[in-house]
Amino acid sequence: MGQIICVMNQKGGVGKTTTAINLGACFARAGFQTLIVDLDPQCNATSGLDRKPTAHHPLATGALWVDSVVATDWPKLFLLPGTKNFGDVSALVKGKNEQTERLREMLRTGFRSFDYVLIDSPPAVSPLTRTALECSTEILMPIQCEYFAMEGVSKMTSLIEKDRWQSTGILLTMVERDLELTREVETEVREYFGDVVFQTEIPRDVAIPEASSYGKPVIEYAPRSRGARAYIELCMEVFENEQEE
Ligand SMILES: Nc1ncnc2c1ncn2[C@@H]1O[C@H](COP(=O)(O)OP(=O)(O)OP(=O)(O)O)[C@@H](O)[C@H]1O
Ligand SMILES: [Mg+2]
Repeated sequence: MGQIICVMNQKGGVGKTTTAINLGACFARAGFQTLIVDLDPQCNATSGLDRKPTAHHPLATGALWVDSVVATDWPKLFLLPGTKNFGDVSALVKGKNEQTERLREMLRTGFRSFDYVLIDSPPAVSPLTRTALECSTEILMPIQCEYFAMEGVSKMTSLIEKDRWQSTGILLTMVERDLELTREVETEVREYFGDVVFQTEIPRDVAIPEASSYGKPVIEYAPRSRGARAYIELCMEVFENEQEE
């Protein structure tokens, strides 16, 4: 069975969606069957891959997930689109047993044919995000290098049980090397979390939001950009970590 990576941080705008899309695109480019699951009602991962939100979400309707997974414009990269349908969104936000059970079933058995599943979660903790967390094999928490970066982190980390730390990776995003602030945050995060922090850091690079606005991963839009290189490096680091396990 492949890896299920839950990309989460309850803080908004830290680079969750960007990481799900761009790391996913690197896995696919490396030849692995990859699925991005958009669990966020904002549906940014869906639009970032140039697809439309679904009118009926399989978690809300009980439809077969296979009927909802769509291909993207890139080989081996697939998407389970999010929904903006009001009824479906409220069902997902409430995340009653029915929905969490369906998600559990999808993650535990349904998505077995994929080498990598990346879950893009909303900036909130709900029963669905808890289930995603529980059923994932890895946790990836992006932290943006800015003031208050550590805000809410302790709340978030309290959700991660002790025995899950060995499969958790913290990723510094929007890093601006020449800023004093970036260096302060970096030191603080690395001191606090130690080995759990990826060596790879994602620089702030305008190619990244530009790529999303064209509905493309950055490795496709601007393959030589710093942003693209950083996500490729992150992908290599994930592969290396797997070999060490
Ligand atoms: N490395 C980067 N360089 C420049 N801009 C970036 C970078 N990473 C992300 N961004 C931009 O920052 C904004 C927030 O990123 P993103 O949407 O990935 O965060 P998020 O954590 O998914 O947000 P939300 O919590 O709302 O879902 C987006 O406009 C994105 O394009
Ligand atoms: Mg997002």
